[in-house]
Amino acid sequence: MLKRIVYGVSGAAIVGLGLFSLYAWNSSIDPITPPAKTDYSPQVIAQGKTLAAAGYCSTCHTPPGGTAYAGNYEMHTEFGTIYSSNITPDVETGIGSWSEEAFNRAMRKGVSRDGHHLLPAFPFEHFNKMTDADISAIYAYIMTSVPAVNQVKKENGIPFPLNIRWLQAGWKLLFADTDSFQPNENKSEQWNRGAYLAEGISHCGACHTPRNALGGEKYDQMYEGAPIDGWIAPSLTSTSTSPIPWRSQDFYEYLTTGNSPYHGSAAGPMAPVMHKGLSALPDSDIQAISLYFADHSGADESDDPALNSNLQAAIAVQHTQTDLRIDEGARLYATACQACHYSSDKLVKGRPLLTLGSATHLEKPTNLINVILDGVRNDQGIRGVVMPGFRDALSDQDISAIAAYLRQAAGENTWPNLQQQVFEIRNQPRFEQ
Ligand code: HEC
Ligand code: HEC
Ligand code: HEC
Repeated sequence: MLKRIVYGVSGAAIVGLGLFSLYAWNSSIDPITPPAKTDYSPQVIAQGKTLAAAGYCSTCHTPPGGTAYAGNYEMHTEFGTIYSSNITPDVETGIGSWSEEAFNRAMRKGVSRDGHHLLPAFPFEHFNKMTDADISAIYAYIMTSVPAVNQVKKENGIPFPLNIRWLQAGWKLLFADTDSFQPNENKSEQWNRGAYLAEGISHCGACHTPRNALGGEKYDQMYEGAPIDGWIAPSLTSTSTSPIPWRSQDFYEYLTTGNSPYHGSAAGPMAPVMHKGLSALPDSDIQAISLYFADHSGADESDDPALNSNLQAAIAVQHTQTDLRIDEGARLYATACQACHYSSDKLVKGRPLLTLGSATHLEKPTNLINVILDGVRNDQGIRGVVMPGFRDALSDQDISAIAAYLRQAAGENTWPNLQQQVFEIRNQPRFEQ
């Protein structure tokens, strides 16, 4: 009897595996000769260029100092190192022989032209929300206007068995959102435009939505904040720990200037999102994205943050005298930071009030420590405005004292094992953006 059950179970497993491999299998799509520039209208190519920027294709497909779109940008994930593909129209090593059908399938389903599954480090789940016309425009732009570069993709450093490509089919089955974009009929056209961009090409959730142990986005916690590339992408919803709620105009200011005086600057992985990505979109699109996120944050649009008691308290705390002989953090802060970060009685853009900023109020000190270590470059945060890094000037102990002081001045609980965290963040792999 037992034998029969065992045979039955393994028989079912074999049939199941057979069905799964059928499901996992994708055909190769025939190569073509690359299209000519004259095959597309200049408007379509220009539209594709804008969308490629808004999807940060070049950020992920170009290593620091490398050739645009030629791939081998290195991504460190919990599952190993992943290298992006060469997506220039080179026939041998890029996507030069890809038909539009093959490109569309890759963007929607994460399947390469030859039929192999692509890893979700490539945010195809989001690109799938785009219309065929938008995907086609990106294809037109890349195939006709990006210079072809012959460069072979490096082998991903993902250990066995996670490197078995067809297992990705199981991942997709379990975790990938395969639905097309569904407009919400109860919302305005502008809201839906924002949703279309945020969920699709600009894939805000790829960084801001927490993931499960196997890297799938937790759709029921959409935009509630997540670790990404050694940073924290904060919550953009009502679960934000920011003392001042994000209104539509605050999102708009942050996304267009790189800084919201009530919240902070766009540094780290957020810097190219806004400077190289969203900046390509027309103003109306940024307004739409801002409106969409303001709906998630639930802020009262008519609130004036200048009158918010949290703001008043943050300004007032600067004037309280700490005993600098006793508090090492306060002393270091006064010498290393305060000259640039002091606002006398009202907020001044470009002099962030650190007891108010998101970096001080997040559950983890990651973003604050990253900024202290490496500063804010002129192509990050407010364009042309720089904060120096203190990597070589301050020890782990100094930085943890400053962070602890700020945390306390901001009225938050202490971060545990702070000095150890500074040590780890100092030594984590750097992600060149
Ligand atoms: C967050 C990083 C990231 C972004 C943003 C990104 N890609 Fe990729 N892309 C990757 C990675 C990584 C791979 C390789 C995945 C693998 O090895 O399975 C890839 C693979 C691809 C492939 C498959 C190439 C092949 O030879 O199989 C195409 C096509 C592609 N990307 C196009 C794009 C386009 C177009 C955009 C912008 C709209 C874009 N990608 C944005 C990371 C990214
Ligand atoms: C590549 C990852 C990534 C993507 C994609 C991304 N973000 Fe971010 N975002 C971050 C990180 C990391 C931070 C923290 C930056 C800092 O503190 O300097 C951040 C910060 C923010 C903040 C400030 C939050 C706060 O409380 O300080 C806003 C607002 C924001 N992002 C909006 C967006 C929107 C809208 C999109 C899509 C259009 C988006 N982000 C896409 C990584 C990302
Ligand atoms: C020379 C002036 C200067 C000094 C010194 C300085 N900062 Fe800054 N800091 C700035 C400026 C300017 C910005 C805004 C940069 C931008 O948006 O481009 C900034 C931004 C920040 C941010 C916001 C980043 C974000 O992601 O929201 C933090 C946090 C910060 N500084 C912490 C510190 C700390 C802590 C010290 C002392 C160890 C310090 N700064 C010293 C000028 C300075």
